[in-house]
Amino acid sequence: MSRIRIFSGIQPTGRKHLGNYIGAIAQYISSQERGEGIFCIVDLHAITVAYDPAELRARLYDTTAILLAAGLDPGRCILFRQSDVHEHTELTWLLSSVTELGRLQRMHQFRDKSIAQRELVSAGLLLYPVLQAADVLAYRAEEVPVGEDQREHLELMRDVARRFNARFGDGKEVLVVPEHRIPEVGARIMDLQDPTRKMSTTGGSEQGTVYVLDEAKAIEKKLKSAVTDSGSEVRRDPDKPGVSNLIEILAAVRGASPDAIEAEFAQARYGELKTAVAAAVVDYLAPVRERFQELRADEAALESILAGGAERAGAIAAQTLGDVRQRMGVGGTRR
Ligand code: TRP
Repeated sequence: MSRIRIFSGIQPTGRKHLGNYIGAIAQYISSQERGEGIFCIVDLHAITVAYDPAELRARLYDTTAILLAAGLDPGRCILFRQSDVHEHTELTWLLSSVTELGRLQRMHQFRDKSIAQRELVSAGLLLYPVLQAADVLAYRAEEVPVGEDQREHLELMRDVARRFNARFGDGKEVLVVPEHRIPEVGARIMDLQDPTRKMSTTGGSEQGTVYVLDEAKAIEKKLKSAVTDSGSEVRRDPDKPGVSNLIEILAAVRGASPDAIEAEFAQARYGELKTAVAAAVVDYLAPVRERFQELRADEAALESILAGGAERAGAIAAQTLGDVRQRMGVGGTRR
C-alpha cells in the first residue's frame, strides 16, 4: 500500500540549465506519479562556499519558481526550504558522530571546492556530505534521484545510515539505507561548444549552455551553432560527441529513445538535426519560462508554498529525530 518515498535536494545557486532540467527537474516531476516526492531547496548547502546573502535569497525564489513552473505540484509533493526545517541541522550534528573524518577529507567535491575557494575553506564545506545525508535520512527516503556526480555523496549517506543502525539500531533499521536513482536518458547533457564536457553553469561556455529561462531566439542560436563532428551521419558514436549529445537532447526532450531518433534522422544532415533539436527545446522550455515569470513575481505566494511544505516536512523529520535522539541517548526520555 505504502508508496515509495523519494527525496531530492537542489541547490538554489546559479542559473538552471538544460542539463539540470533534464537530469534532475524532469525526474522530480515524474516521480510525483510514482511515489511520495519530497523536494528540498538546499540553502544551507549553498552557504558552505563564498556567497552573498541577498543574492542567495533571490536565487532561492528563482529555484522555487522554476520547480513550480516545471510542474512540481505542492498538492502532490512536498516542496520546502532546507533551513526552515531545523531537524536537518540537528541530525547533521548527530550523524557527524558516525561519520569518519578521513572519508570526508577524501571526498572529490571537498577537494575540488577547497581548491576553488580563495578566502576560506570552511568547516561547513567538509561537513557538506553529512548535511546531505541528514537531508535524506531524516525522511527515511528510499530513493534519491540525482546525477552521476552525486555518487560519492550517496555512498557516504548509505554508509552513515548503516553505521548508525549497526551502532544504535539494536537490530532494527532505524534509518533507511537509500538507493541512488540515476536518470537513464539525459543524465549527461554536454556543453554544446565542447561536447566532451558536461553542460555546467560554472565550468562551461556561455554559448554552449542552454538556460531554462533563455528566450527562444537565444536557444535557437545556441543550438544552431552547436559544435558537430566530422562525417555526416546522424548516429551516436564516441568519436562523435557533438552529434551524440544532440541526439540525447532530442530524445530526452521528446521522451523518445535515442535509437528512435537515430532511425528518424538516418537520411538527414547535421543541419536538419540541429533545426529539429532547436525547435523541440524551444517548445519544451517556453511554457516553463512563461509560468516562471508569473510565479516569480509573487514572492509572498512563494513563501507561503514553502511554509506549507516546511510544515509537512518538519512533521516527518521530527519523528525520525525523536527516534534518533532516543537511540543515541541524548535529550529527555519519551514516555
Ligand atoms: N549536493 C547536491 C547537489 O549538489 C544537492 C543536495 C543536497 C542533495 N542535499 C541533497 C541531493 C539530498 C540529493 C539528496 O546537487
